[in-house]
Amino acid sequence: MPVLSQLLTGKVISHEKLVEGFYRVRIAAESLARQAKPGQFALIRCSSTFDPLLRRPFSFHDIDAEAGTVSFLYQIRGKGTQLLSQIKEGEQLDIMGPLGKGFYLPEKPAKTVLVGGGIGVAPLLFLARTLKERGYSLTVLLGAATGEQVLCRQEFEALGAEVQVATDDGSQGHRGYVTDLLEKVLERIAVSLVYACGPWPMLKKVAVACRGKDVPCQVSLDRAMACGVGACLSCVCRTRRNGKNYARICREGPVFDSEEVLWDDE
Ligand SMILES: Cc1cc2nc3c(=O)[nH]c(=O)nc-3n(C[C@H](O)[C@H](O)[C@H](O)COP(=O)(O)OP(=O)(O)OC[C@H]3O[C@@H](n4cnc5c(N)ncnc54)[C@H](O)[C@@H]3O)c2cc1C
Ligand code: FES
Repeated sequence: MPVLSQLLTGKVISHEKLVEGFYRVRIAAESLARQAKPGQFALIRCSSTFDPLLRRPFSFHDIDAEAGTVSFLYQIRGKGTQLLSQIKEGEQLDIMGPLGKGFYLPEKPAKTVLVGGGIGVAPLLFLARTLKERGYSLTVLLGAATGEQVLCRQEFEALGAEVQVATDDGSQGHRGYVTDLLEKVLERIAVSLVYACGPWPMLKKVAVACRGKDVPCQVSLDRAMACGVGACLSCVCRTRRNGKNYARICREGPVFDSEEVLWDDE
């Protein structure tokens, strides 16, 4: 039975700056911690006022079901995320979720590769934890502008993942694109499934690499959203899903099979 999303208020348990411009906030929200699936997202009101008016979408980054907490990892982009970064421990946040369709999880043990570009790493930790619990093998490829901005490397390693890094400036790992690493991994091992989240050009390259090796790939897409529940059509992208030309990222996504997405029609 589909889980209905709820609007709730959660207390901020911790709020840390990981590196300039990147933050992680952990919120007490027992029902969300029970219900959210990897790849789903929540809408968060970023300040105690109605400015900005719209809640902002953030993927569930990590969940501690026992403690009843959910975490979000975010990068400051504009007014909403700037205001969010000023919220203090002990304050309350207004959250709506869980929303959208998450990642497909294979029934049988599989060799999975997770590819995160920049803040696109956000939904992958919860996914990695879930895959690990099911006994799947994990290779995690992280791309960032600089070594300092490589996020969550230790957390993935603690889950037993093989982690490889690519940075634009070469200050950590391979100098170049994270997709270079993916191409090599696809040559080296028989991968069952690739999961990716990051900027559109990266996702497009991931999709092409996977198609070339006939490896299924799930991508989490990112668009500015308004309602977040399928009513306003502000988040549509072109897909082949169900023979329809357009899909709402907030409702039919944010996770899609990479073969469904019409990559040249952003
Ligand atoms: C399903 C989903 C999950 C997301 N998960 C995360 C996450 O886990 N962590 C995270 O940091 N961000 C995530 N985002 C992006 C996040 O929602 C935006 O960065 C945020 O809404 C920006 O709000 P703002 O008020 O700070 O910026 P605004 O003032 O609204 O915008 C600042 C600038 O960023 C651009 N922008 C706004 N929203 C987006 C967007 N979604 N994608 C690309 N550019 C945008 C605007 O056009 C503008 O140029 C997610 C987006 C979606 C759709
Ligand atoms: S944000 Fe309104 S339909 Fe997706």
